[in-house]
Amino acid sequence: MAYHTLQFEIRDGIAFITLNRPEKLNALNDRVVEELSDAAGRIAAEEEIRGAILTGAGQKAFAAGADISELAGQGPFDGKARALKGQAMLRRLETCGKPVLAAINGFALGGGCELALACHLRIASETAKFGQPEVKLGITPGYGGTQRLPRLVGRGAALHMILTGEAIDAQQALRIGLVSQVVPASDLPAAAEKMMRGILKNAPLAISLALEAVERGLDMTLEEGLFLEANHFGLLASTRDMKEGLTAFLEKRAPGFEGR
Ligand code: COA
Repeated sequence: MAYHTLQFEIRDGIAFITLNRPEKLNALNDRVVEELSDAAGRIAAEEEIRGAILTGAGQKAFAAGADISELAGQGPFDGKARALKGQAMLRRLETCGKPVLAAINGFALGGGCELALACHLRIASETAKFGQPEVKLGITPGYGGTQRLPRLVGRGAALHMILTGEAIDAQQALRIGLVSQVVPASDLPAAAEKMMRGILKNAPLAISLALEAVERGLDMTLEEGLFLEANHFGLLASTRDMKEGLTAFLEKRAPGFEGR
């Protein structure tokens, strides 16, 4: 698929994906959702890609939400269809099997915040702002905000954001656990790449199964999740990388992982 609203570039194992509608603060219109869905499929399918970093073009926004001009014309059934499509795209990204990091360079509002929530890791610039302002528009979050935000930051902080519709700044996002790191705006691309490169130094199959255990396990009972974890722990004993990782430690040298 040719992308008109995204830049997609693979550099040394990382897919760098940039939402590219800066004149509309990277608002997520139907085309962006379609292209992001395709991009999520590429991350999952292409062996060359081992992780992805998502950011927004321009200085001002990661994504300022779903495209309000499209929402304005919707009826109940196409509204529901739009929400389901956006949710499916984010689920595809979340379950792509490889780490996806959101480098949040400005406004992450509404669908933009929900996009960041579906990523596995979030780093923000000091200038970032987060919010679920939907109730101010007479709608509710429709791309997973009511579900992922309380799972990430807890019910109280999530309801505060969702019911007030007020934005919070990067430091507040850090305090409530919405992001794991805040850096000066000019350092954001390098900090995001450094975090991803650090992750990619680890054993690829272990990364993939750890991701799966967290993402799938959160939807299970504790018993089921623990069982999944034990299965993964056992399964990794069949890999060359486990032997390499443990042996390298004992031999006091750096491991060389192969993803096998
Ligand atoms: N959907 C469609 N267009 C959007 C948009 C959105 N979610 N957010 C911003 N834009 C557009 C603006 O309409 C404007 O377009 P124009 O130049 O053709 O008029 C352009 O992006 C720049 O935005 P502007 O509002 O002029 O920037 P600002 O710095 O004054 O304000 C925001 C920034 C983020 C506070 C403001 O754009 C805003 O409140 N956006 C909507 C946020 C929102 O409610 N998101 C949830 C949607 S469900």
